[in-house]
Amino acid sequence: MADLTEDPIGQARVESTKKLHPKKVRQVPENLKKFREIHEQAMAGGPPEKIEAQKAKGKLTARERIDYLIDKGAFQEVGLLVESRCADFGIQDKHIKGDGVITGFGNVNGRPVAVFSQDFAQLGGSLGLAHAKKIASIMDLAAHSKIPVIGILDSGGARIQEGVDSLDGYAEIFYRNTKSSGVIPQISVILGPCAGGAVYSPALTDFVFMVQGISNMFVTGPEVVKAATGEEVDFETLGGSMVHASKSGVCHLVAQSEPDCFRQLKELLSFLPQSRFENPPVIETKDPEDRKVPLMEKLCEVDPRKSYRINHIIWWLADDHKFLEIHHNFAKNIVIGFIRLGGRVVGVVANNPAHMAGALDINASDKASRFVRFLNNFNIPILTLVDVPGYWPGVAQEHGGIIRHGAKLLYAYSEADVPKVTLVLRKAYGGAYIAMSSKFLRGDINFALPSAEIAVMGPRGAIEILYSKQINESKDEEKEALKASLAREYSDKFASPYQTSSTGSIDEVIEPSEARQRLINAFRILADKRKPGTSERAGNIPM
Ligand code: HXC
Repeated sequence: MADLTEDPIGQARVESTKKLHPKKVRQVPENLKKFREIHEQAMAGGPPEKIEAQKAKGKLTARERIDYLIDKGAFQEVGLLVESRCADFGIQDKHIKGDGVITGFGNVNGRPVAVFSQDFAQLGGSLGLAHAKKIASIMDLAAHSKIPVIGILDSGGARIQEGVDSLDGYAEIFYRNTKSSGVIPQISVILGPCAGGAVYSPALTDFVFMVQGISNMFVTGPEVVKAATGEEVDFETLGGSMVHASKSGVCHLVAQSEPDCFRQLKELLSFLPQSRFENPPVIETKDPEDRKVPLMEKLCEVDPRKSYRINHIIWWLADDHKFLEIHHNFAKNIVIGFIRLGGRVVGVVANNPAHMAGALDINASDKASRFVRFLNNFNIPILTLVDVPGYWPGVAQEHGGIIRHGAKLLYAYSEADVPKVTLVLRKAYGGAYIAMSSKFLRGDINFALPSAEIAVMGPRGAIEILYSKQINESKDEEKEALKASLAREYSDKFASPYQTSSTGSIDEVIEPSEARQRLINAFRILADKRKPGTSERAGNIPM
């Protein structure tokens, strides 16, 4: 362009044009001004000092949490301007737009989800009627759109000033949790207190995340516990993340920090379909299907009584050695989680000989049963790895109801009609053998390694019953040798995979190092066994 400073005539022309068309100062219309003010005020969240207090506890704000979860620029908020209508106990002076919860939808790694995030900086994130209606409405949207719903909870519970309206609000949420159970994945992220009856919404969802040092869940708080029972306990000891991850089993995944929590949550979502009407996403992998698993051969070498961590076997079988373990700290005698095999998502249920010899007990039965039901609801094939010496014996287990709890696993596997592939690694004894997706409980393809021992019970126990008279009558110095020889005889006949192969209880004894390839082939053959959404809905009832 020409330089006008060197062109006096051109310069004069520009000046005269400016005079003819003076630049208008555009007035912002009043309604737009008002909208922007209201919007800005609503977006600010709670009072600055409450936000500061939130940060001082090392917590993110409700809106920052959504930013961590949802893809950049993809969040669509609904109900930003909703307010409470309650005017009791001075609450009318504390009304804030949004009523203490942000609701909306957006994408996580390009896939839509519905989300709500309680704002502790607004009335302690407490749940009144308007707050509850916002959550219920986003849950309805998720159910109608067949997308997962994620709840971020940080709340003092039922808003006391709103009386029974708050309780009714919770009832609306619990009802929706139940109706959506087994239809869309429901995930709860506890990032602060979750107290009173409020804990029951997370408990009705499929997965509960907690963060160390930040999350608490309890029905009655330390004060009430002290008044009622005299026990002195702090928040963390009563209902912190580690308590719920290891003792109560309420929490499925524990994170070190909020960002770590959202990273884990995104990983979990990557394994799940959007609803029961879809299959989980298939991801291409460069990991060769025929990759050998030398570790499996080792199982044939070691003493059957020696323990090992089943996680090592799972890592070796999985695509790219990736295993998302669920409920890692709870009932460690059984391990559950997600892997991919040849790019397809598979849910794993595996006995873990490193803990209680891998025996099934009450907690292991509950943990595995609910997971099997989740997998079945969401079209996720099941791989069962078996190394189980039986049910854990003892008065506590019997009186605690191992019969009732153990039956849940039989029920869950019998009911599941997704592809089911079982691999017996070593021991598979008695009722526990049946429960771990055995052939006649309708396992589709049941493999065994040459190291498998499938029998009514272990050799030692069996011979003590079968030959008790003979053993008792033998001389003391001969007893041990006699027992060893009888046990060997029993093992040769029963404690191997060959007798069960001859009866059809095992489809094939496989070369251990080829296990990965064999499992991938088996799941590929079974891939179209069931069309998504065609089975009857079965909710993922809490167990
Ligand atoms: C109304 C509440 C509230 C509640 C907290 N707040 N919980 N307002 N209803 N349930 C308000 C506080 O008054 C305070 O308001 C603000 O939130 C922040 O609370 P603080 O106590 O200052 O915060 P903090 O010290 O961090 O303690 C957090 C807390 C504590 C541990 C959650 O607030 C607490 O114990 N709240 C009650 C928890 C509880 O028992 N809930 C159960 C309710 S009954 P100001 O204006 O001072 O900032 C229930 C039954 C549900 O939930 C049944 C469903 C079926």
